[in-house]
Amino acid sequence: MHQDCERILLTEEQITARVKEIALEVSERYRDKRPLVVGILKGSIIFYADFIRHLECPTELDFIAVSSYGSGTVSSGKLKIKKDLDRDIKGRDVIVVEDIIDSGFTLANLKALLTERGARSVLIVTLLNKAERREYDIAPDYNCFDIANEFVVGYGLDYDEQYRNLPYIGILKRSVYEK
Ligand code: IMP
Ligand code: MG
Repeated sequence: MHQDCERILLTEEQITARVKEIALEVSERYRDKRPLVVGILKGSIIFYADFIRHLECPTELDFIAVSSYGSGTVSSGKLKIKKDLDRDIKGRDVIVVEDIIDSGFTLANLKALLTERGARSVLIVTLLNKAERREYDIAPDYNCFDIANEFVVGYGLDYDEQYRNLPYIGILKRSVYEK
């Protein structure tokens, strides 16, 4: 385990099994459709790559980068689009893939934006959900794991751009961000 982690919250094996299970459930729902799968950069990339490999429906891929966070551990500010989608989403069934829902600010705003742009449907799939922290009215359609209010890293999630490549999800030691 990485020395900056207090403990491992979810192992590689636990994540792999659950991601596959969720992807198969989503596939069932999109059997006769051709969804546009939108990954939110950068946190969702590892989850996204594993998730789409288990989707059994025809899919198209796209990405968007937004920011609501600086380098800290507290969500703030207004949603800013740093890299927009390549595709027109009018009339499309969109599946948004996110790493974690915290306050809900990012997804509440993004869902409103995609709807405003004319998406036929917007489904939200998240790896992690910190329900206790919710401030905005948004709930995932599919969630792999509910977690408590602790700052986690790994499997795509970062603190100050570090730890994204850890293959597991670990709880970051407080001493790393409280100094
Ligand atoms: P929200 O807009 O408050 O829901 O925040 C969502 C974003 O905050 C996620 O996409 C992450 O980038 C970031 N975030 C929230 N909690 C954590 C965490 O525990 N570890 C790493 N990033 C987090
Ligand atoms: Mg993120």
